Amino acid sequence: MGRRSLAVLALLTVGAPALAAGEYDRALRVDVAVLQGDARLLADPATPAIRRTGLQARIASILGTLDMTARERNNHNPSTQIPLPAVAALRADFRQGRPERFLRSATSLATTLPLDTTYFIPLAHTPQRARIGEDLYRTLCIGCHQYTDPHAANPAPNLFDMARSTPSTEFVARMLGGVHGVPRTTLKNPFSDEEIASLMVYFTAGHP
Ligand code: HEC
Repeated sequence: MGRRSLAVLALLTVGAPALAAGEYDRALRVDVAVLQGDARLLADPATPAIRRTGLQARIASILGTLDMTARERNNHNPSTQIPLPAVAALRADFRQGRPERFLRSATSLATTLPLDTTYFIPLAHTPQRARIGEDLYRTLCIGCHQYTDPHAANPAPNLFDMARSTPSTEFVARMLGGVHGVPRTTLKNPFSDEEIASLMVYFTAGHP
């Protein structure tokens, strides 16, 4: 394993370094975009029952911390306060078990708190990015992501399939949301925007 991957792994295992103010803002918007994406999949009749269970757990978890994430965002950005999301209303919609209705609420929240995707969309494909993306994937992701367990509620998804089947803003959010494998790693994405863009180029170019 190279020095670079060791450094990334150290970041992954040590946990969250202090974030800059803008990163708290982005973290909130990423959560909201992923929430909308999970709501979209939950409302999709093609989503298998086992996945539905997993999505429900993910949604409950995002809703469980959304209020705190929004407060943290405001605490770190005192000059640009945003209204706190109506989490109680979202939770009530979610608990009603009507995925279409919850999707509408999550979509309207995502419209109020859009994620800035200008670095990633449109995505510039360059040979250098493709090479870096492939290198990162083969070193750090393939072990968990190559085979998707069809019996897991929240399996490590095939990232090439995800790149093809996910709306572009949602895909950016899921990539920025980072490595969800273990609780410790959900804290901070250890990659630069350029590295994320490189991974996206590699995934969107199709299967290796
Ligand atoms: C230790 C195993 C592991 C490693 C290593 C790993 N992942 Fe994952 N990843 C997972 C699992 C498990 C999930 C599904 C978690 C969930 O749905 O809650 C996941 C989910 C994701 C998702 C979807 C997130 C979402 O919101 O749906 C993306 C994107 C992703 N991983 C990217 C990566 C990339 C890129 C790398 C390498 C840089 C990587 N992962 C490395 C296990 C891993």
